[in-house]
Amino acid sequence: MSSPFSIAREAAAARDADDPLAPFRDRFDPPSDLYMDGNSLGPVSDDAERTLDRVVGEWRERGIEGWTEGEQPWWEYAEYLGERLAPYVGADADEVVVANSTTVNIHTLIGTFLDRVADVPARELDAPDTVEESVVDASGSVVVANELDFPTDHYAIRAQFRQRGLDPDEHLRLVESRDGRTIEREDVAAAMDDDVGILFMPTALYRSGQLFDVDALTELAHEHDALAGFDAAHTVGAVPHEFSAADVDFAVWCSYKYLNAGPGSIAGLYVNERYHGLAPALPGWWGNEKASQFDLELDYTPEASAGAWQIGTVPMLSAAPLEGSLDLLDEAGIERVREKSLELTDLLATLVDDLADAGYEYAVGTPRQGERRGGHVAVEHPDADRVSQALRERGVVVDYRPPNVVRICPAPLYVGFADVYDVAEQLREVVDSGEYESFAASEGVS
Ligand SMILES: Cc1ncc(COP(=O)(O)O)c(C=O)c1O
Repeated sequence: MSSPFSIAREAAAARDADDPLAPFRDRFDPPSDLYMDGNSLGPVSDDAERTLDRVVGEWRERGIEGWTEGEQPWWEYAEYLGERLAPYVGADADEVVVANSTTVNIHTLIGTFLDRVADVPARELDAPDTVEESVVDASGSVVVANELDFPTDHYAIRAQFRQRGLDPDEHLRLVESRDGRTIEREDVAAAMDDDVGILFMPTALYRSGQLFDVDALTELAHEHDALAGFDAAHTVGAVPHEFSAADVDFAVWCSYKYLNAGPGSIAGLYVNERYHGLAPALPGWWGNEKASQFDLELDYTPEASAGAWQIGTVPMLSAAPLEGSLDLLDEAGIERVREKSLELTDLLATLVDDLADAGYEYAVGTPRQGERRGGHVAVEHPDADRVSQALRERGVVVDYRPPNVVRICPAPLYVGFADVYDVAEQLREVVDSGEYESFAASEGVS
């Protein structure tokens, strides 16, 4: 059978030969040669394992002294990793910290800012701010989000409304999608009015991979006297950000996707420096002013940095792999990572188009323009669930997102151009062989 593809495998392989990032592949140990799920869980690297092992060794050899005597003392490890992450989001070191999980960070940041911008009945903060509350120059009791968000964001926002006696059905306003894949900026603009206190958007959508213009959305929020917050889970480590320059108010993200720090690894957060000194909605001793933390006073004083949004003790074993991952990423360079990612996703989209032209029922559900595309491609198929299962059976690790998306993530640090060609070939083969039809529709999403 003649190939449906407009590009030969040899041409793809030739690009690997010229790729300066190709050698990084050897530092990863993915469970499959075609591991395309780095937007869900990045694979382990030698570097992540090295720093995790180091911390385990310190725990064994030094015990509690690791807090002060570790190679990177554990006591300030969250701040240290915040400083290491700051360049990836374009922020000052004290505007970033690692803490909690993404969902918990949404709870505490949405809660913190709702307390200042919303008309909260009988609001009383029992922990005092150490900056003037007027630093929060926004007001409105509505949060604008969108209907294609990852659900955890809505669960957290709704809970924060309920805890303030505000009806989430009235106060969470969702921008609708026109096509079930993307959200148009004009529709976000149309949802904004004087009642909006916070615009909370993803930097990229988890299903279609649509990338948003953070600068434009932030400007839009500020024009309406609202704050701009972002869930950057699908971009940090894949797409460079400039949160400070854009004047973003706050952001959250995880480190187990493109930052390859391991399952459930510690999350990150950014809080614009003008808010440092506000008391968080979910205070805990690890966010208390560092200098007086061990005075163990019953009164809470927020640390005057993003570090205030930490809650409990830094979970060293879920933080340590991030250090090695960042060593590797620093070496690779985020600009080169983004450049190659755009080339890989472009190649994949072209090959999927070729399949569609040849009569296969595949379609690309991700925007074509590079500036609107994150790190993965949503490949649509009416039987995406069973196609995903057949691909996995063949060792092509992808995931399925209902109703019709096979998410394929060619992450640049360990995926090459020939790999992308091979994935497209597998997309073709599982249909040609009828193999996918032998799978039952899955009951849950893996
Ligand atoms: C956009 C987004 N936010 C949040 C999460 C998950 O949050 P957590 O890290 O708290 O499990 C995901 C998970 O894939 C996600 O895609």
